[in-house]
This record gives sequence, C-alpha cells and structure tokens, in this order.
Amino acid sequence: MPDQSIAAPVSAAIRGRLLSFHRPPAGPDDLDCLTYREDGLLLVGTDGRILETGDWADLRGRVPDGVTVDDHSGRLVLPGFIDTHIHFPQTQVIASYGAQLLDWLEKYTFIEEQRFADPTHAAANAAFFMDELLRNGTTTAVVYGSVHPQSVDALFAEAEARGAGLIAGKVMMDRHAPPALTDTAESSYRDGKELIGRWHGRGRQRYAVTPRFAITSTEAQLEAAGALLREHPGVHMQTHLSENTDEIAEVGRLFPGARDYTDVYDRFGLLGPTSLFGHCIHLSEAEMARLSESGSVAVFCPTSNLFIGSGLFDLDALSKPERPVRTAIATDVGGGTSYSMLRTAAEAYKVLQLRRQNLPALAALHWMTRGNAEALGMAGEIGSLEPGRWADLVVLDPAATPAMRHRMKAVDGDLEEELFIQVTLGDDRSVAATYLRGRNSHLRQTGA
Ligand code: GUN
Ligand code: ZN
Repeated sequence: MPDQSIAAPVSAAIRGRLLSFHRPPAGPDDLDCLTYREDGLLLVGTDGRILETGDWADLRGRVPDGVTVDDHSGRLVLPGFIDTHIHFPQTQVIASYGAQLLDWLEKYTFIEEQRFADPTHAAANAAFFMDELLRNGTTTAVVYGSVHPQSVDALFAEAEARGAGLIAGKVMMDRHAPPALTDTAESSYRDGKELIGRWHGRGRQRYAVTPRFAITSTEAQLEAAGALLREHPGVHMQTHLSENTDEIAEVGRLFPGARDYTDVYDRFGLLGPTSLFGHCIHLSEAEMARLSESGSVAVFCPTSNLFIGSGLFDLDALSKPERPVRTAIATDVGGGTSYSMLRTAAEAYKVLQLRRQNLPALAALHWMTRGNAEALGMAGEIGSLEPGRWADLVVLDPAATPAMRHRMKAVDGDLEEELFIQVTLGDDRSVAATYLRGRNSHLRQTGA
C-alpha cells in the first residue's frame, strides 16, 4: 500500500477500463506491452498529475469525501492522443478540392493564411481549433501557426486558458509566397526569439522553430532558424520534407549545392532529436541514414498523403533495425482530412496495406499516445497513465455508433480485436470525454 501520508491530495477520480502502454508492442498480440485494468480507478492530484492507478476494488477507499468519481465503467480510458503535425490556420482549408501540394498551397493555403494577420480572426480560430482537438480526444498537439507572430500568441493563449500544452511556432517563409505572407530572415529571427521568450516553458507551452519548407525559405532564413535552435536548447524544430515529387525537384533546383533534400536542412543545423520532419515519403537510403544518425523524427501524415496524392509512407524502410529512423503519426490538417487520431490511424493502416506492411491496433494506439510522446521527448510528462504524468485522458466508447455496437457483439472478450474495431471504425463519435489535468474538458453531448 502506498504511504497515504505523503500523497498529494486527490482532486479527481476517474473509473473505467484503464489502458496504457509501457513499450511498443513486439507483435499484434503482444499484450505484455501494456497495462490494462478492466475495472480501474485513476486518482488525480491537485496539481493535475496522475497520483495513482489501480483496481477499483483496491483504490476506491482513497477517494476523499467531496470528490465525485467520474464513472466511465465499460469505456476505455487512455492517455490523451498526441497529434505531432497540424496547421492551425488551415481549419478552413481542410477539404479543398483537386490539387496536389504546390498548387494546393498556392490556390488555397496561401490565400487563407493571410487572414491570420488579424488577431480577432486568429483568436476565434484558436478557440475553434482547441474545441476540435478536445472533441477528438487530442490533448497535446505540435502546431504550425501562420507567418504572423500574433497567430501563435492567440493559439498559445487559448491553450493556456484551457490547461492544455501545445508545441507551436510561427511559420518562417521569406520567398515564393504572396508578399502579405512573407517575412524576412531578420524579422523571422527576431519574432521567433520574442515568441520563445514569451511562451517557451511558460506553464505547459513549448516553442517549435518552424521554417515552412525549403522552397519558401532562403539560405539566410534557414541559417536564422539554425541560430534560433542553437541559442535555445530544448525548443523543437518542425518543417516539411520529401512530401511530393514536384516539390523535391524544385528543392533540387533551388539548392544545387545540396546532396539531397535532407541535406538542405542538415547544412543549417536543423537535424536532431528535437526535429520533426513532416511526410518523409520519398527519401533515399542516404537521407534515411542521416535522419537516423541525427535522431530526427519522420512524421507520418496518412490522410494528408492520400488526400493531396503525395505518396505512401514506407514505415518498414524507415524502421530498418540497423538504422532506425524515429517516427511519429499526425493528422496534418488541413492537407489532412480529419482531426481524429483514430481516423488517422485507420488511414495509416490502409497506406501500409498498400505497402504490404502492417499496423496492428496495439501499435496504432501506442503510436498516438506513448510513441508520439517519446518522439517529442516528453514521455515523462504525457502519453501514459503512469504516476507523475499529466492527467490528460481520452475516454473511448466501444459502441459509439450503430455499426460499432453491432460489430462489437461479435467480439468474444478479445481486447486486441475490440481495439482494432475501435481504431478502424472510430472517430470523434468514439470520444465520450476528454480530460486535461484531470478536469473534464469535453463531454460528448449526444449518444449514437
Ligand atoms: N509543405 C509546405 N507547407 C505545407 C502545408 O501547409 N501542408 C503540407 N501538407 N505540406 C506543406
Ligand atoms: Zn504540414
């Protein structure tokens, strides 16, 4: 029994089917990679962190008078989902028809993002964005702002007001975009430094230096991004890499001295363990070796890769045991078509099927929780239900829709099968509730 005299006071208690990973699964049926309690209780301290988890029967006596147990019996309680690549100014770009990457950017994205110069517009969209993340059970996200620093201020302020932690940055882009959407190497450095000073490490917020991609940054700007990273250890870096074949050809023309696309970023010190590279679809062996050696992270964005027709992420090639590249999974809204990490994982499964590769449900759920936390270097804070982690939780209903309820009737107590159905058919309707720091931040309004 834990020593109750030294435990922080309990401020919330959540009952349900607790499920948390402590390592990646070795195969589709490797249930030893997780801790599962059919009737569990999770206690939250007054600081918003997980105090303890256990069986309801053992822990129920620890719930103090005055604390009401949130009873989710029959529902799964997991660590909140983590989205490692999403664009805040693209909530009204999502579902834009008929273009591949470079045309899609020009025709839709670079028009819409100009509106985020207006702080009122940015604030309204930040509220919508956070609502949508929480409705989908996402409690942490790594976010691209627009080029305007005020867009990132609006986003961080909204996250802070809700008790959520974001990793976000102002996009740096000083060429090949409309004048209203470009900064300069100097101004992007200055704005980045100010934003880091204002937000990085303030409560749960963290900064990501965010050069959009090689096409929209001059060498001087990539140099400035490298300087920001060097001068502020611990900040993240995010950009796009090797998404689309026309993009790759254009990068080759713009940087004739570089060995390949990855080398463009490498030359400016942008690779490393806190660096996240969206897409990474068409990489050469040499590029994968360099990403592996530097500890960089390749971010799989399946709904986006399918929707903008970019290509099929090659998980096996990236994961070769002799030079594994760290990976993460993400929605990439608005190139991506869903805010739901469940939908994202379902599309990842299909992409990998086309590659003759596998994505078992355990691997998918590990990826969107602990796996993404490890990719961010934040497994000590989020991504599991271990004591000391933030009590950021998602509660999943196994019978959220008629189709799910009907299909689940054919499951005879097989947890792996149930989880596969949840990942394949689930979406925002599966999310019965979302918690931030042990506080209910979203409760689904209607049953299916
Ligand atoms: N490459 C550069 N900018 C973007 C973007 O906004 N979305 C995607 N999917 N790729 C990009
Ligand atoms: Zn993106």
